[in-house]
Amino acid sequence: MKKNKISKEWINKQHRDIYVRKSKQEGFRSRSVYKLQEINDKHRILKNGFTVIDLGAAPGGWSQFVLKKFRNCKLLSIDLKKMEPIGNSYQILGDFKKDSSKEKIINYFKEKVDLVMSDMAVNTTGNKNLDSVVTGELCLEALRFSQDQLKQSGFFVSKIFMGSTFKEIVDEAKLIFKEINIYKPPSSRKESKECFIICKKLR
Ligand SMILES: C[S@@+](CC[C@H](N)C(=O)[O-])C[C@H]1O[C@@H](n2cnc3c(N)ncnc32)[C@H](O)[C@@H]1O
Repeated sequence: MKKNKISKEWINKQHRDIYVRKSKQEGFRSRSVYKLQEINDKHRILKNGFTVIDLGAAPGGWSQFVLKKFRNCKLLSIDLKKMEPIGNSYQILGDFKKDSSKEKIINYFKEKVDLVMSDMAVNTTGNKNLDSVVTGELCLEALRFSQDQLKQSGFFVSKIFMGSTFKEIVDEAKLIFKEINIYKPPSSRKESKECFIICKKLR
């Protein structure tokens, strides 16, 4: 009964949400696309010709944005969930945390990349602290991977939750990158503890 109520509330909220409607009108697969657009408007993380890794990419809004808005990008998208193909991007169906997935990513590019972006998040449990810890672990894993796989001038962008792991992530990022910014895009729901860490230039 309670579950039905929650899902009805969620569906009503989706109908009212301007970003959900806008994404449908503009042919994007998720409202998340506007978070990436706003991050890019403010922090200029994308350019034509970039090599880009999209971690936690399904259903594919961020990947669509990269290929629609920027020319000649080489893009790899990975997710636990299957995605419809997006242009000529390369997709991996799998768990980013596994070494085998990381090897596939490294073998695909065979060189350092310009941008690693992660919108990875686990299915929420309702326990905000637990959700922030588990998503924080994904962010740390992505951060360490970027340290090895980014060009010196590269960018790392990741979802991060305000919570117990926030400081640990920011402190580690500061050891790896010269510039760190924390940004909550206007399209990120106000009630969500989500924000994004934007890191530039490896030390
Ligand atoms: C908020 S959604 C991403 C939305 C996406 N940025 C878009 O624009 O469509 C988070 C995604 O992270 C994925 N994810 C969570 N843990 C993962 C992992 N260990 N490896 C790969 N993907 C993961 C989930 O399956 C989910 O599809």
